[in-house]
Amino acid sequence: MNETATLTLGNKPYPLNVIVGTEGEKAVDIRNLRSDSGYVTYDEGFGNTGSCQSAVTFIDGEAGILRYRGYPIEQLAEHSSFIETAYLIINGELPLPAQRKRFSQLLTENSPIHSAMEHLFEGFPADAHPMAILSAMLNSLGSYYPHLATNDHQRDLETYEATSAVIISKVRTIAAYSYRASRGLPYIHPRRDLPYCENFLHMMFSTPYEPYIALPEVAQALNLFLLLHADHEQNCSTSTVRMVASSGANLFASTAAGVCALWGPLHGGANMAVIEMLKSIHAEGDDGTKFIEQAKLGKADKRLMGFGHRVYKHYDPRAKIIKESFYSALASLGIKDDPLLNIAMRLEEAALRDEYFLARKLYPNVDFYSGLIMRAIGIPENMFTVMFAIGRMPGWIANWKEVAMNPKGRIYRPRQIYVGANLRDYVPPHMRK
Ligand code: CMC
Repeated sequence: MNETATLTLGNKPYPLNVIVGTEGEKAVDIRNLRSDSGYVTYDEGFGNTGSCQSAVTFIDGEAGILRYRGYPIEQLAEHSSFIETAYLIINGELPLPAQRKRFSQLLTENSPIHSAMEHLFEGFPADAHPMAILSAMLNSLGSYYPHLATNDHQRDLETYEATSAVIISKVRTIAAYSYRASRGLPYIHPRRDLPYCENFLHMMFSTPYEPYIALPEVAQALNLFLLLHADHEQNCSTSTVRMVASSGANLFASTAAGVCALWGPLHGGANMAVIEMLKSIHAEGDDGTKFIEQAKLGKADKRLMGFGHRVYKHYDPRAKIIKESFYSALASLGIKDDPLLNIAMRLEEAALRDEYFLARKLYPNVDFYSGLIMRAIGIPENMFTVMFAIGRMPGWIANWKEVAMNPKGRIYRPRQIYVGANLRDYVPPHMRK
């Protein structure tokens, strides 16, 4: 028998269906509540709200489980690559060899950007943040492909394969160019013979007179970083992508909005904030003890960055994987002693013993160690969140598709509880007090 819930408002009961997901997650279906009762629900920050049904990623935050399309993150991290995982997320299944080959070909063909677009980078001030450049450029990219960005979901879905390849491939080129532009360096064009991560590192670090050859360990660390960020269900940026998509907007516009949402320090910007925090602790000669005490005061500007998560009330499985791989990456890069890593480890140890963090179930999240990995492989700090955006692109694309394909899809349009002034008459300027 189907489970139901009953909500009583006044004396009137309202039976509500219970929806059960494929992993047994339960939700009370309130879709008809307002039309039946006149009431809306109130859930600031959406901590109790399922905004959609999605088949992309499963997270059990209590148990520390993360799966893309059913596959455990640990297995993908061990056996797959970012590009294979991107294919899985975007298309729903692991690729057959011919499909994988075709995807790689599409990525290679699409890696250069239009030469007219190169000039757009010149319009940004030298110190523009690469995230600002990335979101502006992604949105502009759609205007170079009007047939892929029609804002007619039916037509945009017909070209989904091409559009997703254009975005996955070019986001890497745009990211590298935004870094080069911010440093006043000449652009280095992509190479046909290099795999995804090696090609990105080449565009970032080669010079016109000397090619940068990535160490296999560096490319592997980058691959793992991107794979671990490839999707994370209805986080702030993915929800933003879905929100924008729900209006009928194309994939370029929707993912550009995702970049903006990712930028903030409570979301993707946390990886950069972690390094800033570790540096300031180091500069003050603190071993982390003083900082932990401040973080416990609950002030928003003194949080222990890289700790806590809306969904995980357990160690973030991505943090575990990234931490383990970090030591081998450091060893192969010949980095023996990193003072920031030492502080990070002391902070983690202290926080995991502290009643404040234990009671609130605050554990390291992926960003606690990901910034350190980026730093070790030579990615500049203001590019950390850009790296997150490159990694998250498959998830945004797959979520856009779910919205575009939903025949019953409605524009995302929450209600509110109005708490402003009551009706009053207009006051002419000379009578205002
Ligand atoms: N340091 C100290 N106290 C914290 C922290 C922290 N990092 N995070 C949460 N708290 C406290 C918070 O003050 C509150 O305490 P109290 O109950 O006494 O008022 C309690 O824990 C619950 O916090 P919340 O703000 O209600 O939790 P949230 O689910 O709204 O926020 C979060 C989640 C990730 C924004 C938050 O934990 C945070 O700000 N962490 C630091 C930033 C960070 O690392 N962000 C990256 C998230 S993972 C990457 C991603 O998915 O984007």
